[in-house]
Amino acid sequence: MRILSGMRPTGQLHIGHLSVLENWVRLQEEGNECYYFISDWHALTTHYDETESLKGHIQEMLLDWLAAGLDPDKSVLFLQSWVKEHAELHLLFSMFTPVSWLERVPTYKDQIRQLGEEGKDVATYGFLGYPLLMSADILIYRAEGVPVGEDQLPHLEFCREVARRFNYLYRVNLFPEPQALLARVPSLPGIDGRKMSKSYGNVIPLSASPEEVEEKVRMMVTDPARIRRSDPGHPEVCLVYTYHKIYNPQDLGEIEESCRKALIGCVDCKKRLADRLNRVLDPLRERRSRWKDRGEELRELLVAGSQKARKEAALTMERVREAMGLF
Ligand code: TRP
Repeated sequence: MRILSGMRPTGQLHIGHLSVLENWVRLQEEGNECYYFISDWHALTTHYDETESLKGHIQEMLLDWLAAGLDPDKSVLFLQSWVKEHAELHLLFSMFTPVSWLERVPTYKDQIRQLGEEGKDVATYGFLGYPLLMSADILIYRAEGVPVGEDQLPHLEFCREVARRFNYLYRVNLFPEPQALLARVPSLPGIDGRKMSKSYGNVIPLSASPEEVEEKVRMMVTDPARIRRSDPGHPEVCLVYTYHKIYNPQDLGEIEESCRKALIGCVDCKKRLADRLNRVLDPLRERRSRWKDRGEELRELLVAGSQKARKEAALTMERVREAMGLF
């Protein structure tokens, strides 16, 4: 199956992103034809005035991907803005896409308001077109499966409408309707209990060192009623326990009981979690270390991937131009 997905390079990846990346790696290992790209144009729709950090974010993202197990020999890894055909298809799509479709995308008005409250004006042409650019990203590879989180479902629905409209208007069967391949994304709170987000400073980065992981786990809030080591704890209100649920499911019963009976203290319980997280991150660290100080090769890898992607995109564009009767 032809698979495609992308991520916006807007900041450091953290352990909350790991389940999505694991899904990508699984699809790669199952022998699908995978295209994964860094969507720097999409980053610009909201970060058009913070471009000084873009290059760094792109490099970090590629490194995080390789650390997570994406393999440039098996998947096509590329940069959106290096495959200009995406922009051409977006432009052609814009000719027949009603503005009302874009305004109706459920997240659109919410985001304008929300980002507006944060002082950012995204009532722009580019931001309105976000789902259309995303549709071009997907359809230009005639991808059938798009592994994403649930938040992207409205965009996928929109993409299918664009595909149908194109096929209908130009009487072709060029674009398949892509399906979302949902990752089971456990909702992982940040170390302060709020949503894990770079802007709250409460994330555990994928690139964290073992010491950094220990420190972050030490900062996690536990049961506030458990003051002394001998007080029985209440796992249901403890953030460390929420993490054990995800990362230590096999030991969960025992951890819960030890906490309720005060057989284990919070310090040890946290130590256990940190060890477990570090075991999850160790293979990533190992792969990341192989790419250390090889910045030029990383760039080459992205160049090569983008060339491959571009070939495929150009083939679709030929068919698009022909279907639309362009000269
Ligand atoms: N909108 C996606 C996100 O924020 C990123 C993205 C851009 C994407 N183009 C895509 C995802 C195409 C899948 C397919 O996560």
